[in-house]
Amino acid sequence: MSKAVIVEPGGGFDRVVIDKRAAPEPGPGEIRVRLRASSLNYHDYAVVSGMWGPKEPRIPMADGAGEVVDVGAGVGEFRPGDLVVSTFFPTWLDGVPNVEGFAAVPGDGVDGYAREVVTAPATSFTHAPKGWTAAEAATLTTAGLTAWRALFCDDHLKPGDVVLTQGTGGVSIFAVQFAKAAGATVVATSSSDEKLARLEALGADHLINYRTTPDWGAQALKLTGGRGVDHVIEVGGPATLAQSMAATRVGGHVSVIGILSGVGGDFPLVLALIRQLRLQGVLVGSRRQQQDMVKAIDAAGLKPVIDRSFPLDEIVAAFRHQESNRHFGKICLDI
Ligand SMILES: NC(=O)c1ccc[n+]([C@@H]2O[C@H](COP(=O)([O-])OP(=O)(O)OC[C@H]3O[C@@H](n4cnc5c(N)ncnc54)[C@H](OP(=O)(O)O)[C@@H]3O)[C@@H](O)[C@H]2O)c1
Repeated sequence: MSKAVIVEPGGGFDRVVIDKRAAPEPGPGEIRVRLRASSLNYHDYAVVSGMWGPKEPRIPMADGAGEVVDVGAGVGEFRPGDLVVSTFFPTWLDGVPNVEGFAAVPGDGVDGYAREVVTAPATSFTHAPKGWTAAEAATLTTAGLTAWRALFCDDHLKPGDVVLTQGTGGVSIFAVQFAKAAGATVVATSSSDEKLARLEALGADHLINYRTTPDWGAQALKLTGGRGVDHVIEVGGPATLAQSMAATRVGGHVSVIGILSGVGGDFPLVLALIRQLRLQGVLVGSRRQQQDMVKAIDAAGLKPVIDRSFPLDEIVAAFRHQESNRHFGKICLDI
C-alpha cells in the first residue's frame, strides 16, 4: 500500500484526506509507475473544491509523471527507469475524438494521480521529453496538450501567423511558448502589467492589459494593421469571447477552451457569420497528439514555466494558491 490523496464524495477543501491505496503487480499490457509529480489545472480545482465534486471517493489529479518501476507482459514501449507522463484520455489513443466529457478522465470519472504508485495500462502514459524533471513533465498532460492541439492539430499554425493568448495560466503560457517556437507573432493579454513584462521576456511581441484596456479586441485588430489575428486561445469564456472574435481575422480560428468567467452568456452570431470564423471546442487531446508534442518539445528544447511546487500533502494549499490568481504558469505537486 502507498500514499494516496482522496477527495470524499461531493468534494470540498475540508473533504480531502490522505489514505493508502494498493498498486498491484502489472498485468499484461500494464506498467507500474512511481509517481513523482502532478500539476494543477482548473478542472482539478473544480473536482477538489466541490464545484464538480466526485460522486464517490476519488483520487484527484489528471496530470501525473514519474518513473516506470516494472512492466507487464507484452509491454515493449517502456522499460523500468523511463520517465513517463500520463495522458488525459487513456481511451483516446489516436484519430478523431472518441470521448465525451470526463467519465474516463483520471482524477474525475476514474482515479487520478495524487498518489505515490499506480498500475495502469501502458497506453495511459507516454514518454516524457528528454532531460525534463517529473514536475516539468507533469505540466504537459492537460495544459500543454490543450495548447498544442489548439494550435497545431485543430489549426495549422504557420511561421508569421499571429496568435492571441489570454492571461498567464498554464494553457496560455504554453501557447505563447509553442507559438514563438513555431515562428508566430504573439499578442498576449493579462490583468497585470508585471505579468505582461514576464510574458515579454518569454517572447510575446505585443502586450495588452485586459483590465485597463477592456476593448482589447479592437486593440489587437489595430496591432495587426486592421487584419486581425489568425488564432485565439480563448480561455476566458463569456467575459472574453466577444472580444476574442472581434480580434480575429476573416476566416480565423478561435479555440474555445476555457470557462474562467462562467458558462453562459450572449453569442455574437452576426460577427461569427460576417467574419466566417472557425470556432472549435477543445477538450485536451489524444495520446498520439501528446506523443507528437513531446517530439516537438525535444526538437525545440522548450522548458515549461513552473510558478511553484507544493508537497502532495499540501494539495489544498496548492489549490488556494491557484485560486488567488497570483500564479504565473504551472503550479505543481511533488510526490
Ligand atoms: N478545454 C480544455 O481542454 C481545457 C484544458 C485546460 C484548461 N482549460 C480551461 O482553460 C482555462 C484556463 O486554464 P488554466 O489551467 O490555464 O488556468 P490557470 O492556470 O488557473 O490560469 C488562469 C489565468 O487566466 C487569467 N484569467 C483569469 N480570469 C480571466 C478572464 N476573465 N479573462 C482572461 N484571463 C483570465 C489569469 O491570468 P492573468 O492574471 O495574467 O490575467 C489567471 O491567472 C480554465 O477555464 C480551464 O478550465 C480547458
